Amino acid sequence: METTRVLFCRLFLVLYLLQMVTPSSEQFMVKGIKGPILAPFGGEVELSCQLSPPQSAQHMEIRWFRNRYTQPIYLYKAGKDLYGETTSRYVERTELLKDAIGEGKVTLKIFNVSVDDDGQYHCFFRDGDFSEEDVTEVKVTATSSDIQIFVHPPNTKGLIMECHSGGWFPQPQMDWRDSRGDILLPTSKSHSQDGDKLFNMKMTLLLRDAHSGNVACYLRNPLTGQEERTSIVLAVLYSIANRDKVSMQSGRAKS
Ligand SMILES: *[C@@H]1O[C@H](CO)[C@@H](O)[C@H](O)[C@H]1NC(C)=O
Repeated sequence: METTRVLFCRLFLVLYLLQMVTPSSEQFMVKGIKGPILAPFGGEVELSCQLSPPQSAQHMEIRWFRNRYTQPIYLYKAGKDLYGETTSRYVERTELLKDAIGEGKVTLKIFNVSVDDDGQYHCFFRDGDFSEEDVTEVKVTATSSDIQIFVHPPNTKGLIMECHSGGWFPQPQMDWRDSRGDILLPTSKSHSQDGDKLFNMKMTLLLRDAHSGNVACYLRNPLTGQEERTSIVLAVLYSIANRDKVSMQSGRAKS
């Protein structure tokens, strides 16, 4: 008799535990966009989230946040957009597209993308006691075609050239190339970031020996693969012995 009672107790315990882990009909998964989304600086980006299985999210809480749950960048609750609880720098720049909320799909649109928008976005849905989220990665990109080459007056060491370009994100690859496309080792490379956190790049080159033809300054955005270049034509053979006879033409060419 005693063993039957113990068995019953165990059976109840197992049933109770099963109930805790078995999904109820209200449960769902949240699916964001896989892989990072590229967001052009100053432009727009759209982040979508979808409930699986599809079901209406009209009555749910939908919260988008960056690092902190308590600091939403967008909050929708009980059919209303709650701007008052939203991080201020996102209030004016976000919109939640709810055309397909009946099937559980919403899209967060962010306007005028800045470098600070780079990083993770949590898309969180709550229905009563049940909640689920997914995370999407945003990568901000900026490419600039404004590239300038400055040439210093030749001295006894040779000819020093400088290349400057600002307005890049993330930090671009930067190289000097000769007319065959081979890399010329730079004398120095440096960078800084402007008020918008975009990269300003600077690189110098010392030409010691006779050199003719093209010298180009290349920049490449590592995320998008976009390349920009400006080249300078050393029209007269340059040599240290004959350094007064240097003439140059500057020309730009898109790659
Ligand atoms: C975009 O954001 C920058 C600050 O990041 C601001 O200076 C600029 O005025 C904004 N542009 C628009 C069109 O809102």
